[in-house]
Amino acid sequence: MPRPISITVDLNAIRHNFNYAQSLGAKHKNGDSLDNVSQTMAVIKADAYGHGAVATARALDGKATLLAVSSIEEAVSLRQNHIKTPILLLEGCFCSSELSVLDDLNLQVVLHNQHQIEELLNTSLDEPADVWLKIDTGMHRLGISAADANHTYQTLANSKNVRSIVLMTHFAMSDQPNHTFFKRQHEDFHNLVKELSTTDQLIPNSAANSAAVMSAPESHGTWNRPGIMLYGISPFDHENTFSAPLIPAMQFHSKIIALRQVNAGESVGYGATWTATQPSIIATVAAGYGDGYPRAAKSGTPVMINGHIAPLAGRVSMDMLCVDVTQLNNVKLGDDVELWGKKLSVNEVAQWADTLGYELVTRMPTRAKRIFINE
Ligand SMILES: Cc1ncc(COP(=O)(O)O)c(C=O)c1O
Repeated sequence: MPRPISITVDLNAIRHNFNYAQSLGAKHKNGDSLDNVSQTMAVIKADAYGHGAVATARALDGKATLLAVSSIEEAVSLRQNHIKTPILLLEGCFCSSELSVLDDLNLQVVLHNQHQIEELLNTSLDEPADVWLKIDTGMHRLGISAADANHTYQTLANSKNVRSIVLMTHFAMSDQPNHTFFKRQHEDFHNLVKELSTTDQLIPNSAANSAAVMSAPESHGTWNRPGIMLYGISPFDHENTFSAPLIPAMQFHSKIIALRQVNAGESVGYGATWTATQPSIIATVAAGYGDGYPRAAKSGTPVMINGHIAPLAGRVSMDMLCVDVTQLNNVKLGDDVELWGKKLSVNEVAQWADTLGYELVTRMPTRAKRIFINE
């Protein structure tokens, strides 16, 4: 029997979550005018947050009309796997030679600093590029300043190397849409979009990531850019339980490979950090940090065995972890263990490890192959 670890990705769940994101963007902001419908791209960078970018792109073929990745390498890998959907490079080009393949590969490109803008303006292209001009409205990570936006926008609009421009920004606190920081970023961006628009029709614009798609409809633009919600994970890290309409796509399971009794006062695992306070039954599960389970998860982290929660006991090892199953009935060798998935939220496990569901799924190693269902 192979090592019993499994990482299953439900592609129907991803399609469902995409439909949900799209339906939120399709809520009309002002009356029924179709002009107000936001289009939804699928952010599938970092191997679709660990879920498999090629499989995700295939699952969304015919649904998502734009995909977003971080680098040309990620885009090339999709093209080599016959994904034809246009792709946006979220960090733009890392060197000017990448500009010459944008058209061949059907790529759109973010321009986030003056260096990238100069390179585009001064290069010679066979076909003009579709560009996304990124404005720094407060995240202070990427983007040109709002003060430079008008002049830069006009320069790009007049360049023979530019076919179209979308104005974009990125929120620092969209998971707290009532926070003044979020409101100020949204207002500054919206005012800039209005300032650059010459008619009543706003110029193409994009700001909303998952949290804003779900909770700040006022920030929905021409394009919304959800990532984490497509995988069925709430962008609100305090939400351990499932947000009703989202279906988790990744299921991380293993099995019990050993069971033992320990006496009160005996410890479990490296560093002897967990000690039994009563005679206890310890189940050893074939999953550890080498499989993507966070080593930082503390004793007490919920683990689901046969559909019931039991607490992690002691430190997580490379290939194994231990669970105190004293309170569960009829636990046997070979029983199913859900580490996270449809019943146990990855955000809940992440909280016990002082991190986010985002990090846990994205850094899943390829040691255990992804099994794709509902392709
Ligand atoms: C520029 C940009 N847009 C959209 C997203 C998607 O964000 P989320 O996964 O929170 O929806 C990201 C992800 O970090 C991003 O960097």
